[in-house]
Amino acid sequence: MRTILILNPKGGSGKSTLATNIASYFSIRGKKVTLADCDPQGSSQDWLHVRPATQAPIHGAVLEKDSLHIPQDTEMLIIDAPAAIGGKRLGTFLGQAQTMVMPILASPVDIRAAARFMHTLFSLKGKINNKIKIATVANRVREDTLMAAKLAFYLDTLKLPNGKRLPFITLLRASQNYIHAAERGLSIFELPPSRTYYDREQWRPLLRWLGSRNSLPNK
Ligand SMILES: Nc1ncnc2c1ncn2[C@@H]1O[C@H](COP(=O)(O)OP(=O)(O)OP(=O)(O)O)[C@@H](O)[C@H]1O
Ligand SMILES: [Mg+2]
Repeated sequence: MRTILILNPKGGSGKSTLATNIASYFSIRGKKVTLADCDPQGSSQDWLHVRPATQAPIHGAVLEKDSLHIPQDTEMLIIDAPAAIGGKRLGTFLGQAQTMVMPILASPVDIRAAARFMHTLFSLKGKINNKIKIATVANRVREDTLMAAKLAFYLDTLKLPNGKRLPFITLLRASQNYIHAAERGLSIFELPPSRTYYDREQWRPLLRWLGSRNSLPNK
């Protein structure tokens, strides 16, 4: 089973937005997808509840007593991690996935929080060097702003403890399309292509990375 973890301890960075859009993308492509909402706020669960039955099916799973019940035929498991996660629990989440995607907003507060979290993450050396592939995504960015440039610069220069580059995959703009889609239990891939053309283009590098060996741990 392919497991993709969406994690950033900072609240509101776009975890549920990424998790639901990734789940929908793979479901549209015919994969058996389970979306695991591990956040007590239940945003992904809420999204699944309003998702029209006519759309590509996504199975919902929630954490019960710290364990997830995943249907056996699941091909892709997308985990929407809770905010404010750290310590042993962080290790448990990382241990379940082959790939982690971290969305980060372009604000001084979010960049500082991300830098602090990277410190924690990089202290788990043994776990992250070889066992999980991690990448960042700049989210909800107002393009052509100084903060967008600062975030891109910061993400571009991040290195793993083993000296390798931590890939910064793409920049997703702030767009009402995400909000309108989320409201209806849809992804941007289920809104009219003409309306979401630019957003889909921005997603392309992330989908390519997720579909490639580069997002899987070294053997
Ligand atoms: N690229 C974007 N453009 C516009 N709005 C966005 C974008 N990404 C996320 N949002 C909106 O920002 C809000 C926070 O996003 P989201 O719920 O995905 O973050 P989160 O990391 O899951 O938050 P939490 O830590 O509370 O679980 C939501 O209202 C969402 O619709
Ligand atoms: Mg969330």
